[in-house]
Formats: sequence, C-alpha cells, structure tokens
Amino acid sequence: MKTRLMTLLAALLCCMAASAQTDSVKESSTKKILIAYFSWGGNTQHVAEHIASLTGGTLFRIEPEKPYPTDYKTCTEVAKKEKEADAHPAIKNKVENWDEYDTVFIGCPVWWWTAPMIINTFTEIYSFKGKTVVPFCTYASTYRDETLARITELTPDANHLKGFGAVSKNTKGIAEWLKEIGMTMDNRKKE
Ligand SMILES: Cc1cc2nc3c(=O)[nH]c(=O)nc-3n(C[C@H](O)[C@H](O)[C@H](O)COP(=O)(O)O)c2cc1C
Repeated sequence: MKTRLMTLLAALLCCMAASAQTDSVKESSTKKILIAYFSWGGNTQHVAEHIASLTGGTLFRIEPEKPYPTDYKTCTEVAKKEKEADAHPAIKNKVENWDEYDTVFIGCPVWWWTAPMIINTFTEIYSFKGKTVVPFCTYASTYRDETLARITELTPDANHLKGFGAVSKNTKGIAEWLKEIGMTMDNRKKE
C-alpha cells in the first residue's frame, strides 16, 4: 500500500514538473514587443503609452543627444534645417536587449510632412532583419500617410503591419487597430 502511494506521488510530481516546463516554453515563445518613439511635445508619448497599456510592450523614448529647443517656432526652424541638411541627429540612449524583441512599434510626430530626422538615426543603429515593424505617428492635420510610409521605407529588412496615425493625442481607434493587426494582449498570436 505504502509503495503504491509513493509511486502515485512520484507520478504526480512528474506530471506537475512537465506541465510547468510546458508553461515556461509557452511563455518564452510569446512575442516580445518594443514601442520605440520620439516625442517633442508629449502627444506621441501619450499615444505610445496607450499602445503599451494594450499590448504589454516595453516603452523606449528616443532621446536626442542635443535636446530640441523648447520654444515651438525655434524647434520648427531647427527641424527644418535638419531636414534640408539630411542630418542624422545623435541619440543619447540605447535599447537594451534588442534581440529579444520580435515586434517593434516605431512612433513619431509628423515634422515638416514626414518623420523627424532622428527616426533615420534610430533605424540605422539597429538591425530590423526578421523583425516586424508597426509604424505610428501623431500629427496636427496633414502628412500622416507619408510619415507612416517613411517609417516603413526606413526599415526595408523588416516585415510590416498596418500603421496608425493619431491626431494630436487622440487615442480613439487605437484599440480597434491593435485588435485588427493581432497585437492586443489577448489576441496576440503565440508561435
Ligand atoms: C517641427 C514641427 C513640424 C511639424 N510639421 C507638421 C506637419 O507637416 N503636418 C502636421 O500635421 N503637423 C505637423 N506638426 C505638428 C505635430 O506633428 C503634432 O503636433 C504632433 O502631435 C506633435 O507630437 P509630439 O507632441 O509628440 O511632439 C509639426 C510640429 C513641429 C514641432
């Protein structure tokens, strides 16, 4: 009787160990998401944080080595000069464990009809081979599609999912978009 009980207990423990292992395999194959964004005035940051809350992704704010002027008009002038000079402004911070992410959201405001030049710098630093890129932007009134297309163009080695443009910090439609592209926490596909 005692031997039988011991055998039963051992079998039970084996089953539990196997199930725990399966769970950890499942966990590690869940897609890891990075939400990298540049934001001057806070709108894109607001949208990025909303995306993070729905996807469970990790936020990374792209910080310029030389901060942009805080005055709006002066900032537009600096941004215009950077665009005309095809400048690649340096980035101060670095994404840790880049290889762990298989999906990278890239977000920015529209600056002079396209993505700010610092997005060129960001996309040059990292390898996008084998990654899925999801572009997003915020804008006042125009050049949403051109900016999303620019982010796609800057990451030619990646696969791309449909992007999203938000007017200022309006988050309406973001949950539906994330659902459509399979990126919410509950409908994300596991490998
Ligand atoms: C330098 C500069 C250029 C801009 N150019 C455009 C533009 O071409 N089209 C547009 O709709 N909005 C333009 N905007 C407005 C921003 O895209 C919009 O306010 C955005 O939501 C700001 O995001 P942020 O708060 O994350 O910086 C521009 C703003 C700045 C500062």
